[in-house]
Amino acid sequence: MQLLATALLLCLGICTAAAHDDNGLARTPQMGWNTWNKFGCGISEETVLSAARALVSSGLRDFGYEYVIIDDCWQAPSRDPQTQSPRADPTRFPRGIKAVADEVHELGLKVGIYSDAGKFTCGRRFGSLDFEEIDANTYASWEIDYLKYDNCYNEGRAGYDLISFERFARMSRALNATGRPILYSLCNWGEDGPWNWATTIANSWRISGDITDKFDRYDDRCPCTSAIDCKLPGFHCAVTRIIDYSAPLGQKAGPGRWNDLDMLEIGNGGMSYDEYVVHFSIWALVKSPLVLGNDVTKMTSETLSIITNDAIIAVNQDPVGSPAVRLWREPQEAGGTVQLWAGPLANGATIIALLNTSPISQIVTIDLEKDVFMDSDVAQQKAAYRLFDLWQRADESNLVSRWGKDVGVFQSQVPSIYVDAHQIKVWKAVPADAALAVKEQYRLH
Ligand SMILES: *[C@@H]1O[C@H](CO)[C@@H](O)[C@H](O)[C@H]1NC(C)=O
Repeated sequence: MQLLATALLLCLGICTAAAHDDNGLARTPQMGWNTWNKFGCGISEETVLSAARALVSSGLRDFGYEYVIIDDCWQAPSRDPQTQSPRADPTRFPRGIKAVADEVHELGLKVGIYSDAGKFTCGRRFGSLDFEEIDANTYASWEIDYLKYDNCYNEGRAGYDLISFERFARMSRALNATGRPILYSLCNWGEDGPWNWATTIANSWRISGDITDKFDRYDDRCPCTSAIDCKLPGFHCAVTRIIDYSAPLGQKAGPGRWNDLDMLEIGNGGMSYDEYVVHFSIWALVKSPLVLGNDVTKMTSETLSIITNDAIIAVNQDPVGSPAVRLWREPQEAGGTVQLWAGPLANGATIIALLNTSPISQIVTIDLEKDVFMDSDVAQQKAAYRLFDLWQRADESNLVSRWGKDVGVFQSQVPSIYVDAHQIKVWKAVPADAALAVKEQYRLH
């Protein structure tokens, strides 16, 4: 009886209070900007505020990039000795975090902060493990809207799903108890498979080790080849590695709970235009959060053109919230692979993408009937579809900006598509009889 009561109590603690997916946030994947990829630990109030101002002046805010996230190294060397509350580095953030948050809010943006479910953060500042309530309450008092929660120095409290779950659920409950809706972005690098247990406690969870600004470079510091059974997630994960991790995980995500492929590297200089287009497209298709990681105060027009492709952003923010999945992946003799991805969008549309990670161009025929619509009913399999190429913006002249170039009507197959090395083609497919009517509605908006 005693044992049963204990088990029940444990279950009440773990099983009830943690339904953080009901915080109403991230109904579509969150979008924003984060300090880490460009600035690392070298941040200050000025880094954050100048980026926030640039999000407004560049127009990025109006494309949906709304969270300004202060990553690691904002903390003072120690907690407040009296209250044990977290406090900010007095030289980097002399006015404290609340003053910064107020200014970010005045710009019509939201503000995020970073901590760690361990004794220290990855940058060896104080972590939140065993300080969850006091930290959540402090963040709420600073009017924080978003928490990225890392996994360094976790004192070995990992290795089993339930142990990881409980460590991260504690912060979920603490955030919930503050009464302030705070988006919870869990960052345990895919350890113990958070897609299986974080769906009820977090709004998003990282699926792999940290991204690096490279397309396909193999690096042993990112040692795993698949997200499943990865015991050492590592870091320095190239874009194509993370794409491979993400491929089987789409089924677990949906409104309020997303697979996070890590922050974007577009504009940081390590990849070509075509490679950054691949990076942005796949992140959008699988409904990853789109969190910029470049210096938004200094951007080339090429960088801006990628991250403001609103046809691609609309795929990411589609209200159905159903990640695209990889239908097939074919290794090429020259190295790399050709991959076909597809997924449903609102209003009966379908997103289709053909990715070539190999170093040479390919000519590929897509089988609409047998590949893309294989799980659909016969009428859908046999239907004709009008395709719009979302990276060719030939329709800009008539202000239908959410549509790419109309490349014609196809039935059963799309033959002989030329796709260059490290390039992706992304189409929105709409039943041919409906396409022009739907397009007309967009024109009216
Ligand atoms: C706390 O959780 C409950 C139950 O899931 C939910 O209804 C509520 O909106 C949450 N509150 C906050 C502030 O996240």
